[in-house]
Amino acid sequence: MTMRATLGKRFKNPRAQHGFQGRTCSIISVGSYVPDRVLTNGELEKMVDTSDEWIITRTGIKERRIAADDEFTSDMAARAAMRAMQNGGVTPDQIDLIIVATITPDMPFPATACLVQHKLGARRAAAFDMEAACSGFIYALEIGQQFIMSRTYNTVLVIGAEKLSSIVDWKDRNTCVLFGDGAGAAILQHRPDAHGLLTACMGAEGDKAELLCMPGGGSRCPATPDSLAAGLHFLRMDGKETFKNAVTAMYTAGAEALRRCELDISQIKCVIPHQANRQIIDAVGERLGVKPDQVFVNLERYGNTSAASVAIALDEAVQQGKIQRGDLVLLVVFGAGLTWAAAVIEW
Ligand SMILES: CC(C)(COP(=O)(O)OP(=O)(O)OC[C@H]1O[C@@H](n2cnc3c(N)ncnc32)[C@H](O)[C@@H]1OP(=O)(O)O)[C@@H](O)C(=O)NCCC(=O)NCCS
Repeated sequence: MTMRATLGKRFKNPRAQHGFQGRTCSIISVGSYVPDRVLTNGELEKMVDTSDEWIITRTGIKERRIAADDEFTSDMAARAAMRAMQNGGVTPDQIDLIIVATITPDMPFPATACLVQHKLGARRAAAFDMEAACSGFIYALEIGQQFIMSRTYNTVLVIGAEKLSSIVDWKDRNTCVLFGDGAGAAILQHRPDAHGLLTACMGAEGDKAELLCMPGGGSRCPATPDSLAAGLHFLRMDGKETFKNAVTAMYTAGAEALRRCELDISQIKCVIPHQANRQIIDAVGERLGVKPDQVFVNLERYGNTSAASVAIALDEAVQQGKIQRGDLVLLVVFGAGLTWAAAVIEW
């Protein structure tokens, strides 16, 4: 499809402005993977001073998945990718580029995307990681789309994958109840009959980096016996401030994405928010005017899987038939950085 600004006046395609001649970019298939091991709130009650009731009331989370000791981010990413490739009928040799969004790479380097490339046998593909924490999947979709739109590549594999259990302090009740492991993947190609990824609004506020971070392990604080003893290699968070910023940023990004496409929220078939906390999802939904049956939530089963979160949710929503060809979908996310993003997709 050549880019047209309007499609039967249903919405505006912001990318089609200013005479731009690029191709549209669609998500042609999705797939996800979560580890078998379920960690329930009841089990957490035995590990830290918490309760099932506290966790459900404050977050909505009932259980999360935990990867095995010998199962790494690249393994989960590759499994999710294989499912997406199977669903889209895509073979490894077709893939031109692999982007993995993660804050829990197998190693600081090389990129987890390179390990995934090897596991998939996608020998032609370029591969790199990108890091925008929980916003990573939409950031990666937007990057991947640029290569399709510009005709540089025909097939891009975008993955959000995390083994957050490896950076969570299992003695810290403030954080350990919130997170889980998993991966989700999407295959991007040009599809002539759809506008696909209509817009993505992305933003960041680096002055709030300390609200949610892992202080150790980088160039600022390499691993030493002292840094390990101080627990600097665990995720740290100011929950209350993060919560407030998440609601504002997700609402602002979601509203801006709709505005750019001249869409009303009622035209969106399915809203897929970052699955961090039920109260955040409800507060953002209320501000955007989302009806309960428009929003997809699965955080009660997986907790917050960071960059994998909306990718897994998108796959489940498609599997459950909540998104059909032609439907309009709104993805909206928030994460450490601070970062945020919202994307509108014609499925
Ligand atoms: C983490 C979060 C659930 C905490 O909820 P909250 O209502 O802000 O709770 P507070 O941090 O004020 O803590 C209230 C009390 O509960 C306690 N508490 C914290 N975690 C607890 C737990 N797992 N079980 C029981 N009590 C807990 C606190 O210690 C505090 O006790 P105190 O009053 O004796 O000091 C909430 O702030 C949140 O979800 N923030 C956003 C987190 C997020 O989504 N991060 C990822 C963004 S991508």
